[in-house]
Amino acid sequence: MKMAFTECDDAGILPADHWAAQLELSVDKNLSDSDKESTISLYPSIFKYRTIHGRTYHPETTDAQYWAANDKAQRESMDLNHHCFTLGLGGKLYVAPLEQDTCRTALDIGAGTGIWAIDFAEEFKGAVVVATDITPVSPSYVPPNLTFEIEDCNKEWVFPDDHFDYIHVRWMIGSISDWERLFRRAYSHMRPGGWLETHEASAFVESDDGTVPETSALGQWGKIFAEGGRKVGMTFSVYEDDIQRKGMEAAGFTDIEVKEFKMPIGSWPDDPKMKEQGTFTQAALEQDVEGYILFITNALGWTRKQVLTWIKTLKREMRSKKHHAYYRQRIVIGRKPEA
Ligand SMILES: C[S@@+](CC[C@H](N)C(=O)[O-])C[C@H]1O[C@@H](n2cnc3c(N)ncnc32)[C@H](O)[C@@H]1O
Repeated sequence: MKMAFTECDDAGILPADHWAAQLELSVDKNLSDSDKESTISLYPSIFKYRTIHGRTYHPETTDAQYWAANDKAQRESMDLNHHCFTLGLGGKLYVAPLEQDTCRTALDIGAGTGIWAIDFAEEFKGAVVVATDITPVSPSYVPPNLTFEIEDCNKEWVFPDDHFDYIHVRWMIGSISDWERLFRRAYSHMRPGGWLETHEASAFVESDDGTVPETSALGQWGKIFAEGGRKVGMTFSVYEDDIQRKGMEAAGFTDIEVKEFKMPIGSWPDDPKMKEQGTFTQAALEQDVEGYILFITNALGWTRKQVLTWIKTLKREMRSKKHHAYYRQRIVIGRKPEA
């Protein structure tokens, strides 16, 4: 039976055609010819990277499954996100109580563009820093104490046991097949007394005043990721299920501390600091919403045209300042006990 335009499915997701109806864009004159291509499923590419509708994803050489694009547009968005996160920490890169003379070996898991690892290696010049990812990175400048390695963190780690003084894991939502196993590995490869620090976000966009209803494009974001993640077999409920704290406790970490943040989306907050954060969060999203959403909506069977129409609504909502949107972010740190 065909659903009415405003009727959600069992997962709470509005039908993909809803957004065209809402925007009265059943024929969108602004879409280019390539945008009008009919949808196709994720298919193996003859190129180095997997591709979906012209966007590139992680290399074919790994069986890892990562949901965001890895091309220039997405890398620029990741760098803007890095700025948002450090703004949220008052310019700091970490919250663990690290000291220059005891932090000699550090690992950044899923380093993305490497921007965090580069800044960290610059700050901790006496430390040997390793940054891993499934996609190769080629920053124009790499400090001499930093190396990048291609590693799938869901597989056995190649590093020695009892080795790292600090392990940093940021925004790996939707990328980890077994979080507790990841934390157990971090524990094994960490020197006694070393710190693990994880930063993860909720996929759900909320408001405190009802200005982000579930049926808005912003309000649908989390539902789309929850359902798309279920389809591709990766969880996006790291925040909701309190996976960081529970997994770190189960792995044996102690001295666990939890910090909660609300990250505004858009320039709607009155508070100047929050306004700045929200402006950059919006900029990061606007830079490449498509690169975040295409893989997941592809798994849900949306056409590219449907995705672009939804994105248009999302951008309109973010720019309007009427939607007082934010997402939640949680930082959890824990220590491997001294032997
Ligand atoms: C959202 S980005 C976060 C990047 C970086 N941690 C940051 O906060 O700026 C997630 C990164 O994890 C990488 N990734 C995904 N699955 C991975 C895996 N199984 N092993 C290692 N890296 C992975 C992706 O390629 C991507 O660069």
